[in-house]
Amino acid sequence: MLILGIETSCDETGLALYDSERGLLAHALHSQVALHAEYGGVVPELASRDHIRKTLPLLRGIFRQANLKPATVDGVAYTRGPGLIGALLVGAAIGRSLAWTWNIPAIGVHHMEGHLLAPMLEAEPPEFPFVALLVSGGHSLLVRVAGVGRYQILGESVDDAAGEAFDKTAKLLGLPYPGGPALAKRAEQGDPRRFTFPRPMTDRPGCDFSFSGLKTAALTAWRALEPTPENQADVARAFEEAVVDTLAIKCQRALQATGLARLVVAGGVGANRRLRERLRELAAERGGRVYYPRLEFCTDNGAMIAYAGWRRLAAGQCETAAVEVLPRWPLDSLSPACG
Ligand code: KG4
Ligand code: ZN
Repeated sequence: MLILGIETSCDETGLALYDSERGLLAHALHSQVALHAEYGGVVPELASRDHIRKTLPLLRGIFRQANLKPATVDGVAYTRGPGLIGALLVGAAIGRSLAWTWNIPAIGVHHMEGHLLAPMLEAEPPEFPFVALLVSGGHSLLVRVAGVGRYQILGESVDDAAGEAFDKTAKLLGLPYPGGPALAKRAEQGDPRRFTFPRPMTDRPGCDFSFSGLKTAALTAWRALEPTPENQADVARAFEEAVVDTLAIKCQRALQATGLARLVVAGGVGANRRLRERLRELAAERGGRVYYPRLEFCTDNGAMIAYAGWRRLAAGQCETAAVEVLPRWPLDSLSPACG
């Protein structure tokens, strides 16, 4: 079964062709970072317009890459939500129209389900059940995953998502957009012993997170200092250490509570090197393993949407011809995919 995947939920246009027998055949991504940089964050209307400009040229590109004709596609998967409504509508309208024209089924995929299943595209995919830490710009979740669509939320952020906290703190420190990778890079030169920020909500039971206080701690420390690159690096390092430590403590609790040893880490913050190292150690200590998508599939991409779409289309799910998107869509409201 050959699936076309289309991701347009935020500021990346991602297209991919996934074949259930041969794996990922082609993928292409256009990042809107340069477009939004001068505004210091994603401008939704500009994002939608850029998705309109880029989706079809990228689509032609992946068919060329795979040396395939559109007539060979068996199904179309597009991101239905959560995300920016205008951006989602572009992918949904194009995906749904192509499926209608080609007379094949289409499926609207949950963006976070895409992230969660992204490690399945790797050579040694995790087996169900596992615990997943989903950390992106919009979400921070710990989930017990029993199968596709069988998700039990163990904990989530009560305020900012982990990626959002990275982005906002980077902005406070005067680092360039996009903040997460910029802060992580600057933190590499920082002294980990100079500042210690709190580990929010680790003093009470449960797996929920809170990151907004950390942003304030970083701001308070930064305001008392000369704005030099060294001070910036030290504050960035303390912030990164605090986020990584907090996430690691919560992951440990989630593994303990479920009795599982497999941990999947996905979403943009999953690209953070220090987080990856720390969780690898943690899983190893428990005699388990941590699974990541390759770095380029930690952040938004079309491959994860094609894969998740295939799992659902193969289970017999598909949609009517209506173009519908869900800017807000709880992960645990999804139905299981059996097949
Ligand atoms: O999953 P993603 O590409 O988009 C959403 O679905 O939100 O995640 C983007 C988020 C941004 O907040 C970005 O700053 C963060 O992931 N991010 C990082 C790193 N790379 C991306 N945060 C920390 N360290 C990184 N290396
Ligand atoms: Zn994402």
